Amino acid sequence: MNSGILMKEIICLGIESTAHTFGIGIVTSKGKVLANSMDSFKTKTGGLIPNELADHHNKVKDKILKNALENAKIKLKDIDLVSFSQGPGIAPALLVGLKFVKKLCLKTNLPIAGVNHCCAHLEIGKLLTKSKDPVLLYASGANTQIIAYEAGKYRIFGETLDQGIGNFIDAFARYIGLGFPGGPKIEQLALKGRNYIELPYVVKGMDISFSGILTDLKRKYDSKKYNSIDLCFSLQETVFAMLTEVSERAMAHTGKKELLLGGGVACNKRLREMCNIMCKERKAKFFIPENQYLIDNGVNIAWLGILMKKTAKKNYKGIDIKPYERTDDIKINWK
Ligand code: ATP
Ligand code: FE2
Repeated sequence: MNSGILMKEIICLGIESTAHTFGIGIVTSKGKVLANSMDSFKTKTGGLIPNELADHHNKVKDKILKNALENAKIKLKDIDLVSFSQGPGIAPALLVGLKFVKKLCLKTNLPIAGVNHCCAHLEIGKLLTKSKDPVLLYASGANTQIIAYEAGKYRIFGETLDQGIGNFIDAFARYIGLGFPGGPKIEQLALKGRNYIELPYVVKGMDISFSGILTDLKRKYDSKKYNSIDLCFSLQETVFAMLTEVSERAMAHTGKKELLLGGGVACNKRLREMCNIMCKERKAKFFIPENQYLIDNGVNIAWLGILMKKTAKKNYKGIDIKPYERTDDIKINWK
């Protein structure tokens, strides 16, 4: 028998539209990335306004598809499977992805896999870093979770009790006039900070919380007694120490020897440094995928589509968005 037939390589096109980014990734079943095209909503003063996100995604979607196919040097007819981010996310932004994928599949008759965005962050990290059984510190705009695989699901060992860390950083950045996204700008300012200003340190068991810290930061900024450089420095030192502490506790509890970072805030060098020191002290391995796969992108979604190919659907009618879907709602049947 020809094993080449059994192992036929397939190509998946993945669509990301949960929040600020409309992205299309194209990936083969051997894990080769053929294209990663995206366009992200940005604003100099405001934040993420749901309808503005949908307008942005509608405006760029056809151009992104064209770019992705051109970069991959393939035609639509070469695609075997389509996947899309079903949730969690901002409903008007998710709906653009859903409509786009349905139209595409009606035209091509391809099967669809609806994927969980958070699991996609984890799976792309495992593919690209070759980590095997990591604890994932998932630190993005809307999500902050410490996740690890146990008994058929990616379990959440700890998480934010209010907003995600990126949204918290962006909210303070917006308050002091830095625009969106604020994370990279806060990181630059923090580099010059030397004086640590005490802020609330909020770890509750395995969970963390940011809203009290945000209130305190705003109050301190308004008092004009502190400069923004020292406030940004202290913000990073405090909240990244909180993340590192709960990640370490999850590793100790599960006995896992690997830490993987995911989500846009994982681009931050100070967060990486703290996690790296913690992993060295525990003699654990530390993995970070390239920045382009930490932030939202279509490649993450395409790769989880490949993993979920057996459950992809040909009947598109029942497929919908899942804005509030949680990581631990998903039964992992692709491992
Ligand atoms: P999710 O739906 O997974 O929550 P998201 O769309 O909210 O994703 P990502 O694209 O994963 O978020 O990340 C965006 C966030 O990352 C923004 O809040 C942004 O400010 C933050 N960010 C990006 N670069 C940095 C950095 N260097 N330091 C800190 N935060 C950063
Ligand atoms: Fe994300």
